[in-house]
Amino acid sequence: MFAAAEAVRIRPHDLLKCLNSLLGQTNCARCNSELPPAVQMVLATRCRPSPTLSWEISENMIKITFIQPDGAAQTVDAENGLTVMEAAKLNDIAGIEAECGGACACATCHVYVDEAFRAATGKPAAMEEDMLDFAFDVRDGSRLCCQIKITSAIDGLVVRVPAKQF
Ligand code: FES
Repeated sequence: MFAAAEAVRIRPHDLLKCLNSLLGQTNCARCNSELPPAVQMVLATRCRPSPTLSWEISENMIKITFIQPDGAAQTVDAENGLTVMEAAKLNDIAGIEAECGGACACATCHVYVDEAFRAATGKPAAMEEDMLDFAFDVRDGSRLCCQIKITSAIDGLVVRVPAKQF
């Protein structure tokens, strides 16, 4: 069972719902939403159970804002140590395809890093630069977000999602 659990990723909130389900509660204790039909995602284990089985988000969570081409913004709590792409996928951010799963081999996780965070996120490595040649509408600040590690140095990161990925 553990091997299977480690093979998928699960958001802390969905994990809570799963645990509640195992205890005979089919709804989340915090938001009362129902257990999702399929659990797809790794135990994002920086959260911890409180004695009441209410999960607390760790202080290691970093805020990232994704801005869509139409200006719609979504701010997510992302676990320190993941990549920005993983945070996007865990939170169903539209427009981040990430077809290669983070191997820097598809350029479908292209984003524009806000100017204020370019120093903190660093420059693309040579392999990422090469892959960016395949991305749509590359500009200053273009990055493949699977190559941006989430650390406390980028807390509050703002990235823009391109109009399309290819
Ligand atoms: Fe494929 Fe980032 S997920 S290059």
